[in-house]
Amino acid sequence: MEHMDQDILKVLYSEQEIARRIKEMGAQMFEDLQDKEPLFVSVLRGAFIFMADIVRACQVRCDVEFIAVSSYGNSTSSSGVVQITHDIQQDISGRHLVVIEDILDSGNTLYFLKQYFMTKGAASVSICTLLDKPSRRTKLITPDYTGFVVPDEFVVGYGLDYGQKYRNLPYIGVLKPEVYTK
Ligand code: XMP
Ligand code: MG
Repeated sequence: MEHMDQDILKVLYSEQEIARRIKEMGAQMFEDLQDKEPLFVSVLRGAFIFMADIVRACQVRCDVEFIAVSSYGNSTSSSGVVQITHDIQQDISGRHLVVIEDILDSGNTLYFLKQYFMTKGAASVSICTLLDKPSRRTKLITPDYTGFVVPDEFVVGYGLDYGQKYRNLPYIGVLKPEVYTK
């Protein structure tokens, strides 16, 4: 039996480190959001695990929604075009939104989504990303809450995929180069 671990070159953030950081983020977000009854919007699919953990770390009265956008496909670089493939299911006018994202890279996705939600009448849109890769940013956008700032490497695990695989690794790591050429 071949375990997925064998494809990992190095672990960037262990399961324990991620859990500890999310607890801190949740406490900080609670302070900011406790009077706002926020709507947490998770960006599928990459943020599904982070969403589950951050909403439990931030014990505010809230509700949750999911939006899916077209992503990289099986490639590791962005096409720059963002398309909504599954939209949220409720009126957001006057609501305080917190977009929950796995990684902020070029900024294309969140730049687009922020405009989109503001156009639909949100009172505010803040951004909570587990990972931030600022070295690759092409859009002027900064997260309100960041878990970790990562170097310019393609990462997998804890929701993040390569070719739809590795999302269920409990840690975040970098793949061995030979995995990309398999
Ligand atoms: P942008 O460039 O729009 O990218 O900020 C955001 C989306 O791109 C995906 N992404 C990654 N996925 N490892 C991944 O598995 C990475 O290193 C990586 N960098 C960007 C991610 O889905 C995110 O929602
Ligand atoms: Mg992805």
